[in-house]
Amino acid sequence: MSNWLDLYDDMGNYLAPSMAKDHPNIPVVKEEGCYYYGVDGKQYLDFTSGIAVTNTGHRHPKIVQSIKDAADNLVHGPSGVIMYESILRLSEELGKVLPGNLDCFFFANSGTEAIEGALKLAKFVTKRPYVVSFTGCFHGRSMGALGVTTSKSKYRKFLQPSHLSYQIPYADVKGCPEGVDQEVYCVEQLEKDFKRLFNHQVTPEEVAAVIMEPVLGEGGYVIPPSAWVKKVREICDEHGILLIFDEVQTGFGRTGEWFAAQYHDVTPDIMAIAKGIASGLPLSATVASKELMKKWPLGMHGTTFGGNPIACSVALTTLEILHEENLVENSKVVGAYAREQLLKLKEKYSIISDVRSAGLMIGIEISNPQTGELDGQAVMKILDYALEEGVLFYLCGNVGEVIRMIPPLTITKEQIDDGLAMLEKAIQRYLEEQ
Ligand SMILES: Cc1ncc(COP(=O)(O)O)c(C=O)c1O
Repeated sequence: MSNWLDLYDDMGNYLAPSMAKDHPNIPVVKEEGCYYYGVDGKQYLDFTSGIAVTNTGHRHPKIVQSIKDAADNLVHGPSGVIMYESILRLSEELGKVLPGNLDCFFFANSGTEAIEGALKLAKFVTKRPYVVSFTGCFHGRSMGALGVTTSKSKYRKFLQPSHLSYQIPYADVKGCPEGVDQEVYCVEQLEKDFKRLFNHQVTPEEVAAVIMEPVLGEGGYVIPPSAWVKKVREICDEHGILLIFDEVQTGFGRTGEWFAAQYHDVTPDIMAIAKGIASGLPLSATVASKELMKKWPLGMHGTTFGGNPIACSVALTTLEILHEENLVENSKVVGAYAREQLLKLKEKYSIISDVRSAGLMIGIEISNPQTGELDGQAVMKILDYALEEGVLFYLCGNVGEVIRMIPPLTITKEQIDDGLAMLEKAIQRYLEEQ
């Protein structure tokens, strides 16, 4: 057999180029804990968690065992044809960590599918045609989810969805004038935005749902004031509109709470969860209260692979590990430590224009210090240099201006120090070249 690196060099001919070379895309042979191991034998500290998925660390021994044990009994459902213990036990356990009365589940495979389920449920139950989303939010790439995704216009190019949704601005935390209370400013803006929308474009009675990321992810890691999120809840309640939280990225301890809903102390009517749910196995869910789910009759939605028995068993083990190892608390404590260290770096390097974080969901914004412009080009270079040093970061933001730091929740303060020392070297190298 040929060396697979020959295939790697030629991957654009095998894998759709639209996907094949996301950044940084290094060839890897093994993953363990907070590290990847490259074909070059090099160890890479991972600050991406496979895009917020491996919250329990890579290949946690209990996860590996759980996969093996589950595969000894059942590999495939589907849950519409047979019934199995893991899917029911998982529902029971998830209900204990989700906020409020969110305890009834439709299991699927990916984040975008969980969003499809949420939108379908909201429209069916309310019999209303429209959905409102926030500019900058990312909700997935299937056509329904794309209809409410506006983090980058390129995702919608030539694919503009035929069903209508309306967008209003996300919490404008950076636009707040000096001396004005940020919370008050954001809430006032939100009230104006909804008023404008309801007066000029769509009546509230036609709106099935408002969908939002309770912390902005792909769009640039913005943490809105909780008062702003609460105001969204209030406006929805006033008009009988369902509130959907997309917690695909923020879930399972990422923000230092089980879900961002608890971070803001706001319970939505419907939630979409995925990514960190099963430590790397494909699984997601649309979640609502029993009362709401029961209004969605038999046959209105379905799946062949969703709620796979191995994935459900592994999700149960994931919850066990998050509990046993106190990883939600670790996210809060180590996240606060990382923030402190990053603020010190911000003092030293004016290229860092902002540090935004909730738990271990951390964004490091990079701007050109001379012009003040957000600088996606600089981020690409810094990430490449950081990779050469031995640490993997991801990126986000409309022009890729934010270094996205989302390590496994098992990360230690020492590993944070290691990673940030490598980031600092990468920044220095970038600056020396300017
Ligand atoms: C907030 C959010 N929603 C939805 C999705 C889509 O998830 P998936 O890629 O599993 O379809 C993502 C993926 O990055 C996400 O971050």
